[in-house]
Amino acid sequence: MALQFITAFLVLGFAPVVDAAAAWDSSRFAVYTSDAGNDFRSAIPIGNGRLGATVFGTAVEKLVLNENSVWSGPWQDRANRNSKNAVPEIQRMLLAGDITGAGQSAMANMAGNPTSPKAYHPLVNMNIDLSHSSGVSSYTRWLDTREGTAGVTYLHGGTNYSREYIASYPHGVLGLRLGANGSGKLNVKLSLSRSQWVLSQAARVDKGTGGHAISLAANSGQSSNALAFWSEARVVNSGGACSVASPDGKSISITGADTIDIFFNAETSYRYSSTALAQAELKRKLDAAVAAGYPAVRSAAIADFSALMGRVKLDLGSSGNAGLQPVPTRLSNFKKNPGADPQLMTLMFNFGRHLLAASSRDTGRLSLPANLQGLWNQDYDPAWQSKYTININLEMNYWPALVTNLAETQKPVFDLINVAIPRGQAVAKTMYGCDSGFVLHHNTDLWGDAAPVDKGTPYTVWPMGAAWLSSDVMEHYRFTQNKTFLEQVAWPILRQTAQFYYCYLFKWKNYWTVGPSLSPEHAFIVPSSMRQGGKSEGLDISIEMDNQLLHQLFTNLNETCTILGLASTDGDCTAAAKDYLPHIRPPSIGPNGRLLEWRDASYGETEPGHRHFSNLWGLYPGQQLTPSTSSQLAAAAGALLDHRMASGSGSTGWSRAWAINLYARLLRGDTAWEHAQALVQKFPSANLWNSDSGAGSPFQIDGNFGLVAGMAEMLLQSHGGVVHLLPALPAAAVPKGSVSGLVARGDFVVEDLVWSGGQFAKATITSRSGGLLAVRVQGGKAFSVNGASYSGGITTTVGGVYQLVAA
Ligand SMILES: *[C@@H]1O[C@H](CO)[C@@H](O)[C@H](O)[C@H]1NC(C)=O
Ligand SMILES: *[C@@H]1O[C@H](CO)[C@@H](O)[C@H](O)[C@H]1NC(C)=O
Ligand SMILES: *[C@@H]1O[C@H](CO)[C@@H](O)[C@H](O)[C@H]1NC(C)=O
Ligand SMILES: *[C@@H]1O[C@H](CO)[C@@H](O)[C@H](O)[C@H]1NC(C)=O
Repeated sequence: MALQFITAFLVLGFAPVVDAAAAWDSSRFAVYTSDAGNDFRSAIPIGNGRLGATVFGTAVEKLVLNENSVWSGPWQDRANRNSKNAVPEIQRMLLAGDITGAGQSAMANMAGNPTSPKAYHPLVNMNIDLSHSSGVSSYTRWLDTREGTAGVTYLHGGTNYSREYIASYPHGVLGLRLGANGSGKLNVKLSLSRSQWVLSQAARVDKGTGGHAISLAANSGQSSNALAFWSEARVVNSGGACSVASPDGKSISITGADTIDIFFNAETSYRYSSTALAQAELKRKLDAAVAAGYPAVRSAAIADFSALMGRVKLDLGSSGNAGLQPVPTRLSNFKKNPGADPQLMTLMFNFGRHLLAASSRDTGRLSLPANLQGLWNQDYDPAWQSKYTININLEMNYWPALVTNLAETQKPVFDLINVAIPRGQAVAKTMYGCDSGFVLHHNTDLWGDAAPVDKGTPYTVWPMGAAWLSSDVMEHYRFTQNKTFLEQVAWPILRQTAQFYYCYLFKWKNYWTVGPSLSPEHAFIVPSSMRQGGKSEGLDISIEMDNQLLHQLFTNLNETCTILGLASTDGDCTAAAKDYLPHIRPPSIGPNGRLLEWRDASYGETEPGHRHFSNLWGLYPGQQLTPSTSSQLAAAAGALLDHRMASGSGSTGWSRAWAINLYARLLRGDTAWEHAQALVQKFPSANLWNSDSGAGSPFQIDGNFGLVAGMAEMLLQSHGGVVHLLPALPAAAVPKGSVSGLVARGDFVVEDLVWSGGQFAKATITSRSGGLLAVRVQGGKAFSVNGASYSGGITTTVGGVYQLVAA
C-alpha cells in the first residue's frame, strides 16, 4: 500500500517541499510529505499519558494504539530462595579475593526465576480504509508539539481530505476527525485488530446519539490470570449512513458522510477489580466524549497540552528555508551541516517535552511512568521488554521533568515506587534476610517487580535501584519546595530505602559497604593480586557508584529530617547523619588522574569506551563531583569522561545524552553542544525517536529525554544552592538566543533569559515559594538585580519578581 502511495507522488511529479511552507514554525512542527509506510519509527506519536497512538497516515490509515498497563502477564514471585544463605558466603569470597567464585555463586543462588519480569505489550491497531489506495497528491503529515495533535491532508479525485488526531488528558480518550471539503465525500470502513489472544469483537450501529461502536476485548497473555482489557471506538458521522460490515460483524462502514469523528478508549484489569468496573469506566469516558462532541473534546485537549508546553519557550536562532524541509530531509542535511538548522535542535527539545507530557501524566493512584519506549509499542516481544530499566533509563526519562517545568509528569514514578515498596520489602526479606526497608534491582515492571533481572555478573545483582529512584523523589522537593510532598510522599520512600541499607550494609575498612554489587553493565579485569587475576568479572564490593548513591541517600534523609523537624528525635534520622553519612567511602582518584570505578586502581576496565558513566553519577544527576563541590573531584571526573568519549563511549543515544549532561555540569558548553548535535546526527529515526545505536537499532526513548535535559543544563543549573544562568553556554555555536520558563531548585522560574554575542544580556526570575536566591551568571559575570548591583543572596518573597541585567 505504501509503495503505491509513493509511486503516486512520483507520477504526479510531487516536489518534496512542505506545502504552504511559510505557515509552519520549524521549531514546533515536525512535517512530512509522505506517510510512514510500514515503518513504525516514521509514524507520529501522540498520547494522553495513558493512551497512545502512533499515526502512520497511510492510505488505509493504520494507528498503533497503546495503553500503558497492557503488559504480558500477572506478577510472579521470582525471588531466589537460596539467596539469603548464600549472601554471607559470597561476601566472604569477595573479601578474600575469590571474585570468580563469588560471581558463580551469585548467579546460581541470587538470579531470579524466571530471570525476567513482564514485557510491555501492544493494545490494538485501528484501521481506517478510505479507498484512497492510489491517486493521492499534495500529501502532508504533521505533528504539532505545542498542541500535541497530528494531522494528514491530501488531495484525491479533486477533493481535499483531512484527518486530525488528538489525545485528550481531560476526557481520557483519543480522538480523530476525518474531513473532506465537499459534502458526502467520505466512504470509510473502520476496524480494530489484534493478532494475539482476542476474547471478543463486536460492532453496532447506533440509532440514538451514543455513536456507532466497534469494540475489542483481549487478554494480554496466555496465562490463566492474564491481564484483560476492553477497548472501544465510538463513531459519530455527520451525513451519510452507517452499517455493520457483513459477514464478519466486527467492523463498520460509513458511506457518504461529511465528517466522521472517532473517540477511542481502553481500560484494563490492572486498575479495576472487576470486569464490570472496567467496562463502566470505558463507557463513562466514551459517553462523555460523544456527549461533548469533537470540537469541545479537541479544544479541552489542546488547552491542557498547550498549557504544559507553553511554559517553556526556547529560541536558538532561525534556520530559514533549511527548517522548512520535511523532517527526513532536515535530518539528512543536519548530518552534513548541523549549523544550518538550529531549529532542528529546538524541535528536538520541544519534541522531547511533547513525548514526556504525552507519555506520563497523573491518571489516578496507579499512574504508570514512561517505559523504555515511553508509551508507544507495536511488538509482543519489544526490545528489552520495553520495561522500566532503573540503572539509568527510567531515571533519564525524567531528567527534563523538573528543569523544563513539567514537575507533574513525575507523579507516575512515585506511584510506581509505592507499588514496588511491598514487593521490595518481600525481596529484602527473602533474599537478604532484612525485615525492614525495600530493595529494587536494575529493572522493574508495572507490578513493581523487585527481584534481580537477567543472569550476568555485570548487571543482575545490583541492589541499588531504590537508592537512585529515591534521589529523584528528593529532587522533586528541591525544585517544587512542596512540603506536603516531602512529608507525605518523599519521607516514607526515603525512610524505606534507607532501612534496607541499615540492615544490609557491612563495614569494610570502617566504611559502610554494599556487596555483592556491580558497576552497571561494565565488567572489570580482576587485579593480579587476586585469585583469578586477569579474568573479566562483574561482581564486587564497594562499587564507586554505590557509594555515591549511598552518600546522596543519607544526605537526602538528613536534609528531609531537618526540614520536617525530626533530625534529633527519629532513629532513622540520627542513624543517617551520625552513623552512616560520615562512614561512606569517598570517591577516589587513580594514578592517571581519573576517577576510579571500583575499589582501587588495581581493577582494570574491560571497555574503556563503555556506554554507562556509572561512577560519574555524582557529577550528573548527583552533585558530589561537581566543580562547585570539589574542583579536584570534578577534574578527575572530567578526565574519566574524556577518556571514555575518546575510547568510543556515547555509542548509544542515551549514553550520548548522559555525556551532554556531564559536560554541561563540567561547564564545558562547547563540548556539550558538539555531543548534542552528534546525538541528533546519529540516533533519531524518521519520526525523531531516539534509537539505541543508530539506524536500524531499537527505539529507546531515554535519549530524547536526556537530550532535552542536557540542553537545559547548558542554560541553567541550580545544584549546590546557587542558580547559575548560562553556566555552559555554547557561545561560539549559539551566540544569540533566549529561553523562558526553565525552573531552578528553590522553585525559581527563569523567564526571558536572553544572550547575545555569546554574553548574558538579561533575565527575569520569579520566586514561586520565597526563600534565598543566590545567583551566578556565566561563571561569575557582574550583573544588577532590580537596578542595584548584585552582591550576594537575595531574600525573596512569594511571587517576587527580580530583573537581572548584565552590568
Ligand atoms: C486541505 O485543507 C487543509 C485544511 O483543512 C489545508 O491546510 C491544506 O492546505 C489543504 N490542502 C490542499 C492541497 O489544498
Ligand atoms: C476545497 O479545498 C480547495 C483547496 O484548498 C479549495 O480550492 C476549494 O475551494 C475547497 N472546496 C470546498 C467545497 O470547500
Ligand atoms: C504538593 O504535594 C501534595 C502531595 O503530593 C499534592 O497533593 C499537591 O497537589 C502538591 N501541591 C502542588 C501545589 O503541586
Ligand atoms: C545534616 O543536616 C544539617 C542541617 O541541614 C547539617 O547542618 C548537617 O551538616 C548535616 N549532617 C551531615 C552529616 O551532613
